[in-house]
Amino acid sequence: MTTSHPTGSLTPTFRDAWSAAEGAARAAAFFREAFDAEPDGVWAAPGRVNLIGEHVDYNGGPCLPIALPHRTYVALRRRHDDAVRLSSALAPDTVWTSPLAGIAPGAVSGWVAYAVGPAWSLGQSGHALGGFDAVDDTCVPLGSGLSSSAAIECAVAAGLSDLFGLGLTDDDAGRAALAAACVRAENEVAGAPTGGMDQAASLRATEGHALLLDTRDSSVRQIPFDLASHGLELLVVNTRAPHALVDGQYAARRSACHAAAARLGVATLGEVTDAAAALAALDDDVERRRVRHVLTEIGRVREFVALLEAGRLREVGPILDASHASLRDDYEVSCPELDVAVGSAREAGAIGARMTGGGFGGSAIALIEAGTATEVARAVATAFAAAGFREPEFLIALAGPPAGRVHTGEER
Ligand code: GLA
Repeated sequence: MTTSHPTGSLTPTFRDAWSAAEGAARAAAFFREAFDAEPDGVWAAPGRVNLIGEHVDYNGGPCLPIALPHRTYVALRRRHDDAVRLSSALAPDTVWTSPLAGIAPGAVSGWVAYAVGPAWSLGQSGHALGGFDAVDDTCVPLGSGLSSSAAIECAVAAGLSDLFGLGLTDDDAGRAALAAACVRAENEVAGAPTGGMDQAASLRATEGHALLLDTRDSSVRQIPFDLASHGLELLVVNTRAPHALVDGQYAARRSACHAAAARLGVATLGEVTDAAAALAALDDDVERRRVRHVLTEIGRVREFVALLEAGRLREVGPILDASHASLRDDYEVSCPELDVAVGSAREAGAIGARMTGGGFGGSAIALIEAGTATEVARAVATAFAAAGFREPEFLIALAGPPAGRVHTGEER
């Protein structure tokens, strides 16, 4: 799963993505072991990194994620009764079992809620499902802010759609419906009050493109994102920082934004047209800073997209840096590990860097010159060691394909 790139005294650890064939073969082999049967197929769904537009998806703003080449693989077999059985390569000795009707808000918890929650929300949308057996295996680092939870939801949802003939993976409209079902599962079954960016990235992004998601109406635009043609790479630093309190802090930011929107007389902060007037109308300093982050971040998404579309990707560095400062100082969702990751990557030559995802731990991204990943990673790892932090791990991000069926190459 991990590859070490020897570089002298300190050797940064890179997590390579499995190929589709490798991931599918692993999931299928584990399925045979767990259930002593052949799966009907294997589906994979990616984690994501968000390039820009952080903490705006629940504020009616735009965001710009890419699907990672790192994916969660789910092998599935349709049953002829209404039982659901589930096992994970991460806990191979346990098989979770329930009738389909037993999957509901409040009835399941932990990772199982993410895995089977979509079966409940698809049922709520009127889709007829039956029982199924499922196993998962993943190369998306868990708890790293790279959306391992969306990856498992979306892999299961895509698989159920194909297995039960729902046809929702066929086009973007169907994929949007699947993403909405996954968001509902995450909010109501898993109980995490997240926005919809991660599931949209996992189901609706396309290879070689960043996904411009407008969360006002869930519309998307595919923006070509070809790092190599600009001589660039995107380095992801998984800080591996423990992040307790994440859910409470995330929910607190979300409700602060909704309260501020209500005070400003708009449905969401994304509807604010005069930022200066809105900020002047708020007299609580903390509330004003939260709103300032959201409004300035929305502006940064627009600038970033304009540069990307003009072929000027090399010029986005200051936008990434400003996003990080805003998330750190105004929104207060960074942490020492993220700040050191961003600072040390920049000192080692990154064009720009920022935290990505929800924050309070998790991952940072650094836009770097092609061929310098090992050198920048070593500088970050060295800074982490000096600060007494856990050893970080690194990924190379490319804009990968969305959730869908994958093949082992072995089946008929
Ligand atoms: C988490 C959530 C997303 C989004 C980001 C912050 O990843 O799951 O919905 O709010 O945080 O941009």
